[in-house]
Amino acid sequence: MLLNKLKLGTKFNLLLIIVFLSGILLSGLTLSWVLQQEAQTEVTSKALVLLETMNAVRDYTSDHIGPLLSPQLETEPIFISETIPAYSATEVFQTLRKNEQYKDFFYKEATLNPTNLRDKADSFEKNVIERFRNEPNTRQISQFRTLGGGRAFYVARPLTVKKESCLRCHGDPNDAPKSQLATYGAENGYGWKLNEIVAAQILSVPAQEIFNQANRSLLLILSTLLGIFSVIFIGINFLLKGAVIRPLQKMVKVAEAISMGNMDYEFEQKTEDEIGVLAKAFNRMKSSLAISMNLLNNYRSH
Ligand code: HEC
Repeated sequence: MLLNKLKLGTKFNLLLIIVFLSGILLSGLTLSWVLQQEAQTEVTSKALVLLETMNAVRDYTSDHIGPLLSPQLETEPIFISETIPAYSATEVFQTLRKNEQYKDFFYKEATLNPTNLRDKADSFEKNVIERFRNEPNTRQISQFRTLGGGRAFYVARPLTVKKESCLRCHGDPNDAPKSQLATYGAENGYGWKLNEIVAAQILSVPAQEIFNQANRSLLLILSTLLGIFSVIFIGINFLLKGAVIRPLQKMVKVAEAISMGNMDYEFEQKTEDEIGVLAKAFNRMKSSLAISMNLLNNYRSH
């Protein structure tokens, strides 16, 4: 067998390397999985908290601001956009994005036929809306996408025309408040149907940095492991050389000398471990050998 041909040190090192490499590989894979999972949980919860906040802004606007100002929509010359949930949520998010920390976050009520053209869905958002239309049971889509070079995570939810009251402003333009027609015209954002999915709320948070962080942690932990393994490797080799291999090599030399009849040599016994016990036994054997040889020589000379 090949293993039997190898030296003791090589055998030990081979075993150590196999154990260490598989240990590092296995812990690396596990760690990478755990860290990725954690990063994903982090981005998801970030996105969801922000999305729920935007929904709270929407509710506040429709419950408190809308009723307060709705009579003025007929009389004012310019539409009071602040009464509209979509408007307030989008504006609040724009304000948030002025903060450097949040500049790569996005929120949009992407709409196929929007009243305000800044809400118009791009091709990616169109696909999301189409998917919600085709799969009425899907209440939320969350996925990674590449955005401007970095990875981003987005959460999307369908926006459905649930109330008849929406159609006052999004149905027939003739029913719409005069100020709305004056400000937004009669072209866009009309002709919506009850229970139709007209838009998707899409919130996107940057994910690249979180994944970079996860990779940095992985690298750090793996290099620490590698460091610890190297110290163990060097330590075991040192011990093996000093306590086993070198004493054995010396014993081989002494045994060879004795076998040639050179009885001046002694097996060196420094330690109390197995090697020391072996040296002691060899020395006893050497003494017995010397006595037998003497006996033999005396016998011959008679
Ligand atoms: C008083 C009129 C009015 C009513 C009622 C109204 N909306 Fe709007 N809605 C608007 C206006 C005006 C905008 C554009 C606001 C802006 O400038 O961002 C808008 C914007 C939106 C948007 C963003 C996309 C776009 O068209 O720009 C969605 C989605 C939306 N409305 C859904 C609804 C739903 C759902 C209801 C019923 C719960 C509703 N709206 C009720 C006037 C109205």
